[in-house]
Amino acid sequence: MTPVQEQAEIFALQKVGDYVQFTVIAPKIAQDAKPGQFVAVAVGGENTAMILRRSFALLSATPSGDFAGTVQFVVADAGAGTRWLTQRRTGDVIDIVGPLGVPFPLPSSPVPAVLVGGGYGTAPLLPLAQALKANGSEVEFVLGASTSTRLFGELAAKRLAGRVTVTTDDGTSGQRGIVTDVLPEVIERVRAQIVYACGPMGMLRAVSELAQAFRIHAQVAVEESMACGIGVCMTCVLPVVGDDGYSRFVRSCVEGPIFDGTRVRWRDVGTLPPDLVGAEAMGGH
Ligand SMILES: Cc1cc2nc3c(=O)[nH]c(=O)nc-3n(C[C@H](O)[C@H](O)[C@H](O)COP(=O)(O)OP(=O)(O)OC[C@H]3O[C@@H](n4cnc5c(N)ncnc54)[C@H](O)[C@@H]3O)c2cc1C
Ligand code: FES
Repeated sequence: MTPVQEQAEIFALQKVGDYVQFTVIAPKIAQDAKPGQFVAVAVGGENTAMILRRSFALLSATPSGDFAGTVQFVVADAGAGTRWLTQRRTGDVIDIVGPLGVPFPLPSSPVPAVLVGGGYGTAPLLPLAQALKANGSEVEFVLGASTSTRLFGELAAKRLAGRVTVTTDDGTSGQRGIVTDVLPEVIERVRAQIVYACGPMGMLRAVSELAQAFRIHAQVAVEESMACGIGVCMTCVLPVVGDDGYSRFVRSCVEGPIFDGTRVRWRDVGTLPPDLVGAEAMGGH
């Protein structure tokens, strides 16, 4: 579906731990949005110098029914733009574009799946779990964060999945440690054939490497810096190995943000690998 721009009224704001959960009225975006897609929100108001939109993964998209269609997303106060956003009030109108990016691919037949969320990265995994369950797949969650107030969606995950394993760096909730400490045991126990993950890049890399070691699929939602969000500026590129074995820069805003984690050249993210298709020409500029 082609992304649309909407002037969206904030219907509800909810503080969830360190995050703010937004519910906004955006019926055109809600109509066709799928788990894994994201929205880009203008920040700072009319005369702001913050010209770049900020991206947020969709927590839900509820098409119009008895009420106007709504979308939900979760915001962490990370810098000037997100601070402005978290200071909005119910009834305010925000400028929002979506749905952007590609959704999580679903397996063609039911398979056991483990969903790994880091911090607010759990948000897009909740609608994904619903979709997986609807296709008959068994789902289990592993959720991690630096501390308990930075966990998101634990209760919702418990309602959706057979089991939820929680880790925090400081031990304030669940097991002390990081998600990859517990992931191997969970993969083995549920005989997972696929791992889905969303969270910090370091976590996605570690999860993808584990999936590769277990010879199972990994689909990860990356969070690269995005300037335009619509495929024209190349800010968001990642080096990815293609079906032909050659590596290319792939735009995470339009060809992602979901990638086969075993194909991303994590070690080379942020660099220009010399063996990349077209690297010579790019290096010449
Ligand atoms: C697909 C995707 C999904 C995301 N989902 C969520 C989510 O669900 N919840 C959440 O809280 N956050 C999410 N984020 C992260 C969120 O977009 C950032 O935290 C937010 O952009 C930070 O904005 P800020 O103004 O607060 O921070 P600042 O640090 O003030 O500004 C960061 C912004 O500056 C721009 N920028 C930074 N570096 C560069 C660069 N090298 N080149 C060009 N522009 C640059 C980008 O537009 C970036 O958004 C997501 C990001 C992506 C890409
Ligand atoms: S953000 Fe501009 S091409 Fe992806």
